[in-house]
Amino acid sequence: MAKLKFLFLEDSLVDLELIQRQLRKAKIEYDPFHVCDSEGFSETIVKEKPDLILSDFSLPKYDGFSALTAAKQLCPETPFIFVSGTYGEEAAIKTLTMGATDYVLKDRIEKLLPAVQRALNESQDHELRKKAEKERYELEIQLRQSQKLEAMGVMAGTMAHEINNPLFAISEYAALIAKGDIDAEKTKKLALKIRDESERIATIMKDLLRFSREEKGNFKPAEACDIMIKLQSITQQIFKMNKVEVQWENVDKGHSILCREGQILQILLNLVNNSVDSLNQKFPDYDEKKCMNIGVSLKAIEETIYAQFKVEDFGMGIPLEIQESVFKTFFTTKTADRGTGLGLSVSLGIAYEHGGSLYFESVPGESTCFFLNVPIAS
Ligand SMILES: Nc1ncnc2c1ncn2[C@@H]1O[C@H](COP(=O)(O)OP(=O)(O)OP(=O)(O)O)[C@@H](O)[C@H]1O
Ligand SMILES: [Mg+2]
Repeated sequence: MAKLKFLFLEDSLVDLELIQRQLRKAKIEYDPFHVCDSEGFSETIVKEKPDLILSDFSLPKYDGFSALTAAKQLCPETPFIFVSGTYGEEAAIKTLTMGATDYVLKDRIEKLLPAVQRALNESQDHELRKKAEKERYELEIQLRQSQKLEAMGVMAGTMAHEINNPLFAISEYAALIAKGDIDAEKTKKLALKIRDESERIATIMKDLLRFSREEKGNFKPAEACDIMIKLQSITQQIFKMNKVEVQWENVDKGHSILCREGQILQILLNLVNNSVDSLNQKFPDYDEKKCMNIGVSLKAIEETIYAQFKVEDFGMGIPLEIQESVFKTFFTTKTADRGTGLGLSVSLGIAYEHGGSLYFESVPGESTCFFLNVPIAS
């Protein structure tokens, strides 16, 4: 480990020696930096990034309050201990509320060591916490990416189905033309149909590509109604395969949200998949009650207008005892091959990134309704 750096703001060499003698007793290894005025103090902080500051309170050319204020600005994380001869209780309290770590009176200098030790330990804890936080943040990004890959897997399956139909039609039309026994007018009609079906495939491919691109880029305005239309096209096959009846609701054009569109679709696709799972659990096959409401509407909450996306199903509902847990990372009631428990926790993170919110209302045994609110771009 690199040697610690201690910055001493002290005008008296005698006092400096007194302080350092204490530190020697504890065999703390450090590089000392000694300053006695404002310029030297700030300069050393910037240049050396000290691990601890030990400061006198009253100096001929500087004062403790100003030094503390400067330190809090230049290196807010560095512990700051006052070591002073004159130090009223009032001043002591004030410096602590201003962010000083501790204070020690020079005539009780034996208290210095425990104070220094405590400050260094706390600062080390803080460093470790910061490191852990950073690691967690990185892990979350990885999870989000892997979650997206998984969603893409589901979507790729869906897309394959979607593409199969127009492909089949194209090859049938082409076969008819190839036979050569139809008139020019009919041939033209078939050619136009082939063109339409190809365009359908192109649209599907475009959606897939847009979704798969890693969306680190900027937030862009997207029409709430277009997002809904895309969701409808992405999920069509899922609903057909699972025999789910859906009522769709949309807003007019002219209401945009600032977003990463693929991520918003990802959240909605997750919600749809959860609903379908729940409906399948309640109704393994076709049932007239196997239905959902999906839509977007405008909602004013306090001063802000939101696009409120709603995904409602009449499946199992969420049991009361797990309602608090569903947003937790890796919480799942599904078997390992059906769920990882990432869907909602990742979705929540994305919703927050968009300045929005994600929450639900559920009647156990009857229904679940998830709401995703994203502010309308002004
Ligand atoms: N619409 C719903 N109806 C009933 N239960 C739900 C619904 N949505 C979520 N849940 C419950 O919340 C749990 C967590 O959902 P989440 O989407 O986070 O993970 P998952 O679906 O289990 O797995 P993953 O989405 O990672 O594949 C689910 O396992 C389920 O118990
Ligand atoms: Mg899920």
